[in-house]
Amino acid sequence: MAVRTKRKDPRPARCLVFANRKGGCGKTTTAVNVSHALSRTGSRVLLVDMDPQAHATLSVGFKTDGACGDIRALLCGEASCHQAVAVTSIENLSLIPSVLALSAYEIENASRPGAETRLSQRVEPLALDFDFIIFDPPPTIGLLAVASMVAAREVYIPMQMHFLAMEGLAEMVRLIYRINATFNSRLCLRGIIPTFLNEKTRLAREIMDEIRTHFGLDTIFPGVRNNISLAEAPGYRQTIFQYAPESAGAQDYERVARRILDDPKSHPQEGGAES
Ligand SMILES: Nc1ncnc2c1ncn2[C@@H]1O[C@H](COP(=O)(O)OP(=O)(O)O)[C@@H](O)[C@H]1O
Ligand SMILES: [Mg+2]
Repeated sequence: MAVRTKRKDPRPARCLVFANRKGGCGKTTTAVNVSHALSRTGSRVLLVDMDPQAHATLSVGFKTDGACGDIRALLCGEASCHQAVAVTSIENLSLIPSVLALSAYEIENASRPGAETRLSQRVEPLALDFDFIIFDPPPTIGLLAVASMVAAREVYIPMQMHFLAMEGLAEMVRLIYRINATFNSRLCLRGIIPTFLNEKTRLAREIMDEIRTHFGLDTIFPGVRNNISLAEAPGYRQTIFQYAPESAGAQDYERVARRILDDPKSHPQEGGAES
C-alpha cells in the first residue's frame, strides 16, 4: 500500500488516459514516461495498468512481492483500492499493476450491465491521495479501454503522423462522443501527441497541419522523436529518465509532461474520478 501521508492539496486528482485503438503507437511508453516526468516535479502520480500484457507494470520495474493486489483483484472486489496500490522504486510514483488474468475478466464482464463504470467507482476513493491518476489501456476498444475512458477526464491520443492513423483518430473522436453521451459527459480530448516523430518529413508536417485545421491550433502537443533509448528502456525495466536521462526521448517526454502540467484549461475536477 503506497499511500501513507495525505496530500496537502485538497483538490482531487486529474485523471488522464493515453488512448488510441491502434497498438504500437506509443501509448504505454507515453503513460510510463509522462508518469515518471510528472512525479519528478513533486506531483504524486498513480499509474493504472489496464492492459493484460502488463507492459506498463514491467516498464516501471515493478516486481510483485505477492502481498499487494492488482487491477483485476480491484475490479473483482477481491482487493480494496488501497490494497491494490503498490509502491514503485520511483519517488512519488505508485502503480496499480496488471496481470494476465485481466483478459479473462474482460471477456467474462464484457456484457455485464454497469461493467464500464466499475473502474471509476473503484478508484474514486484514491482521488484525494494523488495529483494525477493515469490509465494505460490496451489497444483494442473493449471493456478495459472504455472503462479507462469512463474513469478519466482528459484524453490524450499518442499517434504516429501517418495518413492511416488519421482514420483511427476520427474513430477515437467518435468514441469520446459516445462516452460523453452515455457515461461521462466531462471526458474531453486534450491533446494529440505525435510519436515516432521525424519532423523533417513532409508527411509529418502535412498531417500536423491537417490536425490543427480540424482540432485547433493548440491540440498538437510537442512531439516525441523516434528514439532508440525509448525502445530499449523497458528491456531494462526502466523508464527513460532512469535508463537514458540525457536522451532525446527523455527531453521529449519532459516537454510533454510540462505541457500537461501547465495546461491552462486544466482544473482539478470536482467529485474525483467518478463521473
Ligand atoms: N518514440 C519512440 N521511439 C522509438 N521507439 C518507441 C518510441 N515510442 C515507443 N517505442 C517502442 O515502440 C513499441 C510500441 O510502443 P508502446 O508504447 O508499447 O505502444 P502501445 O502501448 O501503443 O502498444 C515499444 O517497443 C516501445 O518501446
Ligand atoms: Mg500498451
